Amino acid sequence: MLMEKERQEIVDTCLFMQREGLIVGTAGNVSIRKDDLVAISPSGVPYETMTAEDVVVYDMDGNHVEGVLKPSSELPLHLSVYHATDAKAITHNHAPASTALGLVVDEIPTSHYYSAMFGGQIRVAPYAGFGSDDLAKFVTEALKDRTGALMKNHGAITIGPTASKAVNMLPILEYVCEIHLRAMATGAPIALLSDEQMENAKAGMANYGKQPGRDEK
Ligand code: 13P
Repeated sequence: MLMEKERQEIVDTCLFMQREGLIVGTAGNVSIRKDDLVAISPSGVPYETMTAEDVVVYDMDGNHVEGVLKPSSELPLHLSVYHATDAKAITHNHAPASTALGLVVDEIPTSHYYSAMFGGQIRVAPYAGFGSDDLAKFVTEALKDRTGALMKNHGAITIGPTASKAVNMLPILEYVCEIHLRAMATGAPIALLSDEQMENAKAGMANYGKQPGRDEK
């Protein structure tokens, strides 16, 4: 079986999203790129029954390579992001705070310095139907120089060099959105970070969590 290890990793990542309450039902998808192949979760398959064999493999031009199930409806989006970035993994979900905040802003206001973890102010891609080429284009644009974005009327997406790095950013994105929503709910003016403060936070983040002799998660 091609990409056996990556296919199992996709199942494990879907189960992690489920365990962490980051998804509702099968509302999300995961892919991993290895050279010119992309393994992606199948469409609409409950995660608790998904096996590595159920995960399907495509090439970067969208040609089917291996697997019998239909791929995630967001295959065009995943391929578009791989073409435009050096990401090796993509995780997409519909978590409540990320989805709610995307309805009321076009960029996440810089109310928390954790936005810097995503490369700067996090954008909200305009709405387009799920699985559409327009959605692929809008989300790819929103991810320019960023590792995360929101998708209006839809959900959130994170990318990374590994599936575990990508998926570990989803709870952080959800947290940043939750904080902003709670602040908005008070009706009081919200303290936002300046561009300079965000740049400083980005610089500080570059080495955050790196300890001698410890593997990065
Ligand atoms: P799939 O089950 O086809 O991946 O669709 C879920 C989804 O989140 C669509 O955006």
